[in-house]
Amino acid sequence: MAISAAVPADMAAIAALAPVIPVLTIDKVSDAVPLARALVKGGLRVLEITLRTDTALDSLAAIARDVPGAVVGAGTVLDETQLRQAQHVGARFAVSPGCTRALASATRAANFPFLPGVQTVSEAMELSELGFRLLKFFPAEQAGGIGWLKAVGASLAGLRFCPTGGVNAETAPAYLALPNVACVGGSWVAPRKAVEGGDWAVIEKLAAAAAKLRG
Ligand code: 3PG
Repeated sequence: MAISAAVPADMAAIAALAPVIPVLTIDKVSDAVPLARALVKGGLRVLEITLRTDTALDSLAAIARDVPGAVVGAGTVLDETQLRQAQHVGARFAVSPGCTRALASATRAANFPFLPGVQTVSEAMELSELGFRLLKFFPAEQAGGIGWLKAVGASLAGLRFCPTGGVNAETAPAYLALPNVACVGGSWVAPRKAVEGGDWAVIEKLAAAAAKLRG
């Protein structure tokens, strides 16, 4: 699928569109569009739909089709098959909790924006060698959090991170204040209860607060 001219074809440029990437695990396809609209209205344009539910690809397709302000991507992409499925339904980027050689090569070959996950310095070095400069740090809180990011800043100069996993409204500002943090990912802006209740106004408010986290 062709990448729309209005959407950056580069992961760093996509990540620069908002300080927070909502990580969305959608159970009901009918929730996808109103949820995405609320987040975009609040100011969060970059949305990650995890491929962890049977409805994920249909949800992603609906958002790609019906929410033009959203830059929607697929999360929890574990292999090339999922990558191709996500591209086919309109994903503009892919996120993975870790990375494999196969995934790195496939995204490079397709010149498809990709945010691969790392948890260690060696993994980050390996992906840097392959040309990836923006990495997901996952699971951020469990893997060392802010302390890890501060500690690797000098050694891994030139790399930036999107910490995800356990990040929330209280901890996000301290992450975003670090020079090697480009943005953060998290599910807190779309609480399960609010989605189930169709409480889109609550989600828009949470998104608006998150969008202001980095001035
Ligand atoms: C996930 O795996 O769902 C993401 O890392 C989001 O994690 P969070 O729910 O802790 O924000």
